[in-house]
Amino acid sequence: MSSAIDIDFINSLIDIDPREIKQATVMFTARKLSQAARSISVRGKHSLPKLAYDYDALEPIICREIMELHHQKHHQTYVNNLNAAEEQLAEASSKNNTSKIIQLAPALRFNGGGHINHSIFWQNLSPKKSTPSDDLKKAIESQWKSFDEFKKELSALTVAVQGSGWGWLGYNKKSGKLQLAALPNQDPLEASTGLVPLFGIDVWEHAYYLQYKNVRPSYVEAIWDIANWDDISCRFQEAKKLTT
Ligand SMILES: [Fe+2]
Repeated sequence: MSSAIDIDFINSLIDIDPREIKQATVMFTARKLSQAARSISVRGKHSLPKLAYDYDALEPIICREIMELHHQKHHQTYVNNLNAAEEQLAEASSKNNTSKIIQLAPALRFNGGGHINHSIFWQNLSPKKSTPSDDLKKAIESQWKSFDEFKKELSALTVAVQGSGWGWLGYNKKSGKLQLAALPNQDPLEASTGLVPLFGIDVWEHAYYLQYKNVRPSYVEAIWDIANWDDISCRFQEAKKLTT
């Protein structure tokens, strides 16, 4: 049974906003979910990815207690709920229960997004100091006046997320440029905007409250010290190959 995350597969499940479902699109949506359900038994269940570092490795920026809870409890819950929703989807699909299939869309979007986002987040962080590749540095400096300007803009956008959500550096496959975005809840970047995710900053309170209390700006400022630029640069290189 594969434990790898099939991003395209999850995106196919969650690229549906239930708020926008109208009568005319219901059958299309059901068909799309039903097609996705058929491949679940082939792919197998999702599992919690292992971290590449110890729970206390990101201290003092992120303490062990936050990391343990965030990874073992919060991310694990997204994985469990995604698997449960996919099982229900497969069953509903086998019974041609269109109503049930449609009802599952919000759970698939939320938990699938939570699984995708956190899987990127853990890799975006590292206790090892790193710097952007020359290529990424050049791209950042050509779009913003300097790295500091870019950092300031992404930080401000991320701090301003209302309630729970994420701030992102993404890659626009059509324009071939970097782009910033802020999204609510666990909405995944690619399924929501088409941007390829490079660097995500989780600003759900579970990511910082035990240590930073209500001072979100301090957490966002600090997280730059543990950004894994090797990983972010690698994602940039891969994303550029997708330019259309
Ligand atoms: Fe989180």
